[in-house]
Amino acid sequence: VRKGVPRSYPRTQEHRGNDGGYSKHRLPLNFISAHLEMLPTALQSTVRRLRKVAPITKAGVICGKNFSSQNQHDTSNYSHKHQDTIGPFGSFGTEYHKSIADPIEFWCNAAKELEWFQFPEQILDRSNAPIYKWFTDGQLNACYNALDVNCNKGLGEQVALYYDSPVTDSKRSYTYSQLLDEVSRFAGSLVDLGVQKGDRVVIYMPMIPEAIVSMLACARIGAVHSVVFGGFASRELATRIDDCKPKIIISASCGVEPTRIVEYQPLLKEALQLANHGKAISNCIIVQRDNVHQCEPLRGDTDLDYHEVLQKASPHDAVPMFSTDPQYVLYTSGTTGQPKGICRDVGGHAVALKWSMGRFYNTNEGETFWAASDIGWVVGHSYSVYGPLMQGCSTVIYEGKPVGTPDAGAFWRVIEDYKVKTIFAAPTAVRAMRQADPDGHFAGKYDLSSLQAFFLAGERADPDTLSWVNQHSNVPAIDHWWQTEIGFPGLGNALGLGYIPPKYGACAAPNCGYDVRILNADILEDDMDETKLLKQDNKQDESSLSSLSNSFELPVDLHGNIAMKLPLPPCASFTLYNDPDNARFLKEYIVTDTTTNNINSNNNKDSPMYYQTGDEGFLDGEGYVHAMGRTDDVINTAGHRLSTGAMEEVLLHHPDVAECAVIGVYHDIKGQVPIGFVTLVAGCSNVDDKALCGELIASVRKVIGPVAFFKKVQVVPSLPKTRSGKILRGTMRKIANGEEYRVTPTIEDAGVLDVLKPMIRELVEA
Ligand code: COA
Ligand code: AMP
Repeated sequence: VRKGVPRSYPRTQEHRGNDGGYSKHRLPLNFISAHLEMLPTALQSTVRRLRKVAPITKAGVICGKNFSSQNQHDTSNYSHKHQDTIGPFGSFGTEYHKSIADPIEFWCNAAKELEWFQFPEQILDRSNAPIYKWFTDGQLNACYNALDVNCNKGLGEQVALYYDSPVTDSKRSYTYSQLLDEVSRFAGSLVDLGVQKGDRVVIYMPMIPEAIVSMLACARIGAVHSVVFGGFASRELATRIDDCKPKIIISASCGVEPTRIVEYQPLLKEALQLANHGKAISNCIIVQRDNVHQCEPLRGDTDLDYHEVLQKASPHDAVPMFSTDPQYVLYTSGTTGQPKGICRDVGGHAVALKWSMGRFYNTNEGETFWAASDIGWVVGHSYSVYGPLMQGCSTVIYEGKPVGTPDAGAFWRVIEDYKVKTIFAAPTAVRAMRQADPDGHFAGKYDLSSLQAFFLAGERADPDTLSWVNQHSNVPAIDHWWQTEIGFPGLGNALGLGYIPPKYGACAAPNCGYDVRILNADILEDDMDETKLLKQDNKQDESSLSSLSNSFELPVDLHGNIAMKLPLPPCASFTLYNDPDNARFLKEYIVTDTTTNNINSNNNKDSPMYYQTGDEGFLDGEGYVHAMGRTDDVINTAGHRLSTGAMEEVLLHHPDVAECAVIGVYHDIKGQVPIGFVTLVAGCSNVDDKALCGELIASVRKVIGPVAFFKKVQVVPSLPKTRSGKILRGTMRKIANGEEYRVTPTIEDAGVLDVLKPMIRELVEA
């Protein structure tokens, strides 16, 4: 192990290039398994169990041991390591290097692009590490930067917001002056109703301009908004109400889905009954959607009509906020049923979003940016509302679907109508378009000449989806990665700093500010049970095991947990709402490299600390980061750690396959084996299911190798998904394994699970 395996396995042309990237991740496993017989027998089982063999010889040189023995803020070795990987990224690489070598100077410069009431003297407060604070003593207001600043510099007559609603057959636009007028008056209404700085306001609304007005009005007066996705039902709404204890709720009479009106009032009423805090809410402000559906007041005169309230109000100025004050709370799923309230600060959020609009998305004043996401998700917060407006762009609020409103040409139509320069959508949306329009017929019907790039995020973008986008939009399809917790891109192609040739299957480079490391999953604190098990199983070889276990970070090409060495850049959340002493945050996200404890120190204080993303992936030799999926997607088959995401890519490569899920199920001998479920693209009615499954099994064997032990796959009518489009693999895995499971309230259609359950069991038992 120590001498026989080179750091960089041989590469061939086949493994390079824009479309071949997806096959890279399998090489280490193939390479290792191909050389396994060269290892002493005693080590083979250890290697099989631990999988991560290659780094050991070189760990001290390249995998971070050198870094981790230094003070965590010492980045002197950084350039040596990352010039290897980031070097080819040209101008982006230069900026990236600056952001890691001197984050304080880098983000201080970025902060200068905003207007502050008080520019911060302290850029980064490390005194309570690992809970960092950015721009501590600075004072600013995000709404002021989004609206007043643009009006003051002469953009008042430019469109700030396009509202496009195919489901109500209506369109509207607001100039910056009009938006400022409505926002400042609504801010005045909130103050009149007793809402003060620091009070929480729940916003439970469809994709209508009043929702954006409500968010900005809260920001203007320092109230903390908490937007709850309109698709959530009462219990989820009640949970959030009880956690953040809002003073008032802003809602609407209804949402409009393609096939039905979603009446919000019964949902809101039930939530207020369910929530302990329900009676403490002083008012509900309701937007009556006159052209669609009006509702009766819920609670007598405590229910107020949005438009009436607005009529009576006087405008309110933006109040200065400390950078570290909360901007908003946004709930996201955690490992328990209790959603996590991600708490975003004012200053870090504003600085990172403003920076990212130009540097990452290459979208500037006067141009149109469209994040095709609901404002109930983080993407909607960052890139439908705050980011584009702080950049002086026009943003698009779209109340519709990528397909069926009226057809699969909807996204292309919006691009033409508003001359969208940059679109950002979820891969699931594109897959829906692709399924309905495999040949991209609709794209050809619209003028897409304004478009510069099509960004995708939210889940793994498979190469075929990226190719389809690229082929039919005729602009780069850019996969980038981020999560609610960090609020702006963590990985991807920072287009404004120079185009990095995409490698499908990877998210290009870490974004500026993110010192991405790949951690050895076996020794993460919350994975100790597995480590103990490994130790018991490998008694013969304790010494080599302990040296393997000591490798905290992994070098290029090896799979592990994607982590970021602290400090994180501005915008990343360092707190959860209602989390005294940050206990939950620290437990769920922060890990310390205890292997590098200073021998003179009795505690871990001086050891490097990392933010764990919860995702698995690897950094390749060219500096691209491959995010393969959540750590719970990883399976272990006969001691080989495999990514079900990697198998899914193979399945999706088949022209007849629309979507798929590969899950690990228990196996008497091998521990876990993968099984797959696929849905077919539209118009594939003549497919012979049995023959297709045979082809898919053969493909996985050919592309990933027999080690994958991929023997079972089934064609199914549909896969269970959350409303944000994520496939519920964990639930399927539990069904397959005969475990108890809980249907997530975010499920798109619970009926899909009922259909799938017997099929899953049948496949497992076949
Ligand atoms: N309010 C109330 N109900 C909602 C809702 C909302 N805001 N959004 C969705 N729903 C309901 C729908 O009415 C539907 O209910 P039904 O089964 O009774 O008809 C159900 O939730 C599922 O809706 P939806 O998820 O929109 O499914 P769809 O088949 O209509 O569309 C996609 C599928 C893939 C096109 C769509 O989910 C999509 O565009 N997803 C992308 C999500 C996204 O951009 N996320 C951002 C992450 S970056
Ligand atoms: P959310 O917080 O809901 O935005 O989800 C964040 C999670 O989505 C991440 O932790 C990833 O697992 C996944 N994700 C987001 N973008 C990508 C991407 N480009 N590639 C792979 N996974 C992604």
